[in-house]
Amino acid sequence: MADLDDIREGRDFGLDQAIAGQQFYLKGCDNLDWGMKDRLSRIFNKKSGRTVMLAFDHGFLMGPTSGLERIDLNILPLVPYADCIMATRGILRSTVPPTSNKPICLRADAGTTILTDMNDNVFMDVQDAVKMNASAMAVMLAIGDPKMEAKTVANLMEAVNAGQKYGIPVMGVTAVGKDMVRDTRYFSLASRVCAENGANIVKTYYCDGFEKVVASCPVPVVIAGGKKLPEMEALELCYKAINDGAAGLDMGRNVFQSDAPIAMIQAVHALVHDAMSPKQAYALYEEIKA
Ligand code: R5P
Repeated sequence: MADLDDIREGRDFGLDQAIAGQQFYLKGCDNLDWGMKDRLSRIFNKKSGRTVMLAFDHGFLMGPTSGLERIDLNILPLVPYADCIMATRGILRSTVPPTSNKPICLRADAGTTILTDMNDNVFMDVQDAVKMNASAMAVMLAIGDPKMEAKTVANLMEAVNAGQKYGIPVMGVTAVGKDMVRDTRYFSLASRVCAENGANIVKTYYCDGFEKVVASCPVPVVIAGGKKLPEMEALELCYKAINDGAAGLDMGRNVFQSDAPIAMIQAVHALVHDAMSPKQAYALYEEIKA
């Protein structure tokens, strides 16, 4: 039985103070459930409203690409500097200690590798994402690909249905096929399709006119870094994306293939959250690298 000794009546009801209204700080997320918001607020910094996700899920289609040969040696030292990590369940379970306590954006679909054409793609069992305490699930959408579009849209729908059930946000990842034109029209369409189908975050690529991609997407947009660029160019790309309204980055190769990955992720972090210019962020990169 509960301890009934010395039960005190409530006295201070703050009757002279209105109950504070609450508005969630991320675009398009006001009407989400509590669990979704809790998870999103683990990914996106509450002050800046942005995130630096460290993506190292590339191995599921590329194998041990440069910088990812040894996740334990190359990636684990970067984890403390990321706001969120994006990886597959295989790498998380085998190599990333759960005690790192980072929010996970779990790569939740899988398909063909770089050795073949994309021709199939499946979504994982959501129960496993729940078991792994995923803060989000990432699912790819191949918009415009005659073989893959319908299947990947169906995967996204499945992920969103499952995400709604368990309160796990879904990140729609816009894939860029070989024959796709990487322009505002394409990325606006692909991003909007992700959001219309229920994605809570959209990952896409930076392009000229990116502000239109962001404006026409009703949920937070983050950009992938893409192929490795010289550090200053990568920082300029991040700056332009943030300036055009991106809610952060989901960056891989431009961090882990950098000459100094630990310095690079800190420079990117400062640029995204502390309003550093590319020049200032580059100076920080050089300073930490030295
Ligand atoms: C690619 O397969 C993954 O979804 C990557 O996580 C994504 O493209 C971001 O990595 P990067 O900055 O290297 O493009």
